[in-house]
Amino acid sequence: MIRYRALVPEDAEAVARIEAESFPTPWSREDFWREASNDFACYIVVLDEADIIGFGGCWISFEEAQVTNIALTAVQRGRGLGKALMTRLMCAAAARGAARMTLEVRPSNASARRLYEELGFAPIGVRKKYYQDNDEDAILMWHTRLKEFADEQTDARD
Ligand SMILES: CC(C)(COP(=O)(O)OP(=O)(O)OC[C@H]1O[C@@H](n2cnc3c(N)ncnc32)[C@H](O)[C@@H]1OP(=O)(O)O)[C@@H](O)C(=O)NCCC(=O)NCCS
Repeated sequence: MIRYRALVPEDAEAVARIEAESFPTPWSREDFWREASNDFACYIVVLDEADIIGFGGCWISFEEAQVTNIALTAVQRGRGLGKALMTRLMCAAAARGAARMTLEVRPSNASARRLYEELGFAPIGVRKKYYQDNDEDAILMWHTRLKEFADEQTDARD
């Protein structure tokens, strides 16, 4: 059974492993350990039974949430779990007072771009040579109606 819950420090090792298989310049276990007790951070993990198979997180400052990272283990991708996880992260950020959410994505990351667009994010600019591993630009995306989005999810469950 698939479940979602908030990140706790003990998850740091499993989450760092997924991070390492997903990104060229990954955050460490210590980074996630710290994030689990960062009052400004909001992280959600996805579990299949007892195994952590994905995670996503953001930093919340006043009314703005900035997505830091979201990833699933390679074998779990493309089954809709990323969309479900991102939806939960958006709702959690809205519940903590965020009205807007921002993120950066590689132009070459077709699945992530498609996912964000489907959830209502719009591209608003480019950060030149943002990614240090290959100097790839980043597309900057914003969602400006986070509370309305979260309300619609509640409506959909009723
Ligand atoms: C990005 C990521 C979290 C998305 O999660 P996912 O579970 O694979 O995505 P979903 O199955 O929920 O799919 C979301 C949408 O993307 C599209 N999509 C999925 N895989 C795709 C692919 N390989 N190519 C193009 N579009 C794709 C789907 O069409 C889907 O929309 P639909 O189901 O309405 O058709 C996941 O692929 C991942 O961990 N990638 C590696 C880490 C990463 O790139 N993180 C994002 C950094 S910005």
